[in-house]
Amino acid sequence: MKHIAAVVVLIALMTALAIIGLTRTDLMPKLASEEGIIVDQLFSLHVYLIAFLFTLIVVFMLYSVVVFRRKAGDSSDARHVHGNTTLEIVWTVVPFVVVIFVGVLGGRTLAQITAPNPGEMVVEVTASQWSWRFDYPEQGISSTELVLPEGRPILLQLTSTDVIHSFWVPEFRVKQDALPGRVTTLRLTPSELGAYKLRCAEMCGLSHAYMVADVNVVDAAGFETWVAQQAALAAAAASPVDLGASLYELQGCKACHSVDGSASVGPTWLGLYGKEETLSDGSSVRVDEAYLRNSIVSPGSQIVSGFTDIMPKDFGERLSDDQLGALIAYIKSLGAGS
Ligand code: CUA
Repeated sequence: MKHIAAVVVLIALMTALAIIGLTRTDLMPKLASEEGIIVDQLFSLHVYLIAFLFTLIVVFMLYSVVVFRRKAGDSSDARHVHGNTTLEIVWTVVPFVVVIFVGVLGGRTLAQITAPNPGEMVVEVTASQWSWRFDYPEQGISSTELVLPEGRPILLQLTSTDVIHSFWVPEFRVKQDALPGRVTTLRLTPSELGAYKLRCAEMCGLSHAYMVADVNVVDAAGFETWVAQQAALAAAAASPVDLGASLYELQGCKACHSVDGSASVGPTWLGLYGKEETLSDGSSVRVDEAYLRNSIVSPGSQIVSGFTDIMPKDFGERLSDDQLGALIAYIKSLGAGS
């Protein structure tokens, strides 16, 4: 009885210390969504449970090792114990109840954060290797930056043009996969003004680690201003070169091709037009319109020496003929090489 009392006191003490230690380590980034409040509550509950269970095992083990170690000169056998039905029932029923309790709580939290909210604003999120695009159907604009008004419930409709990606802004706590050929949804209500980063949370190929986008939570007036700016920019992009420049961003070309000559996953577009390129099969080719068109529509057919065949193969379906022409016009505008 004396030992049990000692162990109970030790467990209570160590659990309290573990909880204080764990809650002070600042495990979570700043919280910036209303849905995140109950997610964090659930997380804290798990931290308390983990602290208790860890202590329970470690204290019992260390107490036994220290207090019941063999005394000097004692060579007798220990008492032989065969089974203990009460103990076995207890260590089966208690974890069962705990797991069911945590499961029900998790299910309820998920139901709460995925429930529709009145007055939701829809943003369509398109993930591609390796970029993000955001379309605002209500406002009629597109952007490579996710700008959201504070306090307005948002319904994200996610899809992918190629492989599985995952939408994850740690400050919003919620997360959802973007799947090719399917639309998934994610709901969130931004609650803190600020600049955040969207990160792809599903391994999706070579530049997965760099598949990020800026997220800005602004006030209602700031959002209106931004929408007006985006609409004006889109209207101004009437010339093929300007249209090509905006497609360069929106279609994700930017992720692999620089326009300032810097090295990247794919050849830079600076001074590309008219250049003599050596291909992986040893032949050489002069960069003209036909070569550029072929390289966008069937990128695997002519690989420039030193690069790999990783460009998505579906730009022929994604881009209209006008858009292809605009991209080529944009590449031409970046100067002729030699
Ligand atoms: Cu997209 Cu990782």
